[in-house]
Amino acid sequence: MSGPDGSGIPADPAAGSAAGPAEVLRERRFGLFVHWGLYSIAARTEWMWHRERQSIAEYERYLKFFDPDLFDPDQWVERADAAGMRYLVITTKHHDGFCLWDSALTDYSVTATPWGRDLIGPIIQAARRRGMRIGLYHSLIDWHHPDFPIDGLHPLRDDAEAVGANHHRDITRYRTYLHGQVRELLTRYGAIDELWFDFSYQGHVHEGTPVWGGKGPEDWGSAELVAMVRALQPGILINDRTGLAGDFVTPEQYQPSEPPTRDGRPVHWEACQTLNGSWGYDRDNHDDKSLGMLIRMLIDTVSKDGNLLLNVGPTARGEFDARSTAALDGIGQWMRVHQRSIHGAGRSDFQPPPDCRYTQRGDRLYLHLFAWPFETVHLPGLAGKVEHAQFLNDASEVRWEDADPDREAYATTASGQPIGTLTLELPVRQPEVAVPVIELFLRS
Ligand code: GLC
Repeated sequence: MSGPDGSGIPADPAAGSAAGPAEVLRERRFGLFVHWGLYSIAARTEWMWHRERQSIAEYERYLKFFDPDLFDPDQWVERADAAGMRYLVITTKHHDGFCLWDSALTDYSVTATPWGRDLIGPIIQAARRRGMRIGLYHSLIDWHHPDFPIDGLHPLRDDAEAVGANHHRDITRYRTYLHGQVRELLTRYGAIDELWFDFSYQGHVHEGTPVWGGKGPEDWGSAELVAMVRALQPGILINDRTGLAGDFVTPEQYQPSEPPTRDGRPVHWEACQTLNGSWGYDRDNHDDKSLGMLIRMLIDTVSKDGNLLLNVGPTARGEFDARSTAALDGIGQWMRVHQRSIHGAGRSDFQPPPDCRYTQRGDRLYLHLFAWPFETVHLPGLAGKVEHAQFLNDASEVRWEDADPDREAYATTASGQPIGTLTLELPVRQPEVAVPVIELFLRS
């Protein structure tokens, strides 16, 4: 079945559905973020050009060496799918300006590399083949474009000559380029589910230093840009980094302690996290988060009604490195038996005990135990409300008692819990899963 625009890319039957942001995000709580580009060759994070202040010519050197011969998008998608991820967000262009598709508006793209052809189409096709939703990351910042005014983040910020000629750079021309490329991406590949712009930085402080010449919605023409995007792709979700509100907010590399709000009202949110602190492939970085931490992050996010977008930075050969693969596979082992406590689930009104999180999906309440307690766990407010309880990994029954507040402690008998408490009886050894989960069937 060819796409609506005759591109040969099969249309995603679910894309552009009538469901609102809440339902769409709720159904796909976990996604893969992919940061890939010329910086993958340097393998020193996607900000290495900023840090190393190379000249344009020096950075362009990488064009000659970008040839990802081991690139197999089906393998990426298969691994993401096995990890329980339901969508994939790929960088089309990062701050270095290099385009992973064959843009008609520049030669600074894959076509100027030994690889020589579009990378975005094959990734989208692979995702569609597996029923995975698609998001496109697109940097508003472009350190390569000759009309992008140099500012305090730009690699040429300390190049006096370049800064001296800054007045020749015309942000309106850059804006036209930006809007033109976004239009290309949103008219070439069929329906796109999410657009991840990055980022606005007026009055921004970067690593302790105020950024001069920071840019925001006026610079990007965000109002026109967003209007164009919505006209081209009515069902798309847009993030909050154009300087305008957007459909969801994007906490980055931290876990919110409470569900994010705007003007006191809850907002849709998607936390973006790395495996080791870097988005782009960072060869010598061994700051890998443990499997347990990654899974607890996912659970914690969903327990606060959020989505988790977990990042991998493929190598310049086009593969996920061994540590990224191991992390996804480990998460996949847990998600294989626990994903119904994640996808379609969200926060619960019940208060979890310490070191635990609740996710709820209709009349199913999921108790995620971050620390394994000795023999019992007390659940406030659940007495009389539970019909059945079982470990989710093997559906084995978990027994409980409703509180008897008048019971006195004596020898092996613990005193009664406060009225309304339900106490689960646990085995001494926790199930052999990264994070044990007890599924509680609530009475209707
Ligand atoms: C920040 C980083 C950028 C990364 C993005 C992803 O903006 O600067 O490199 O792509 O976050 O969340």
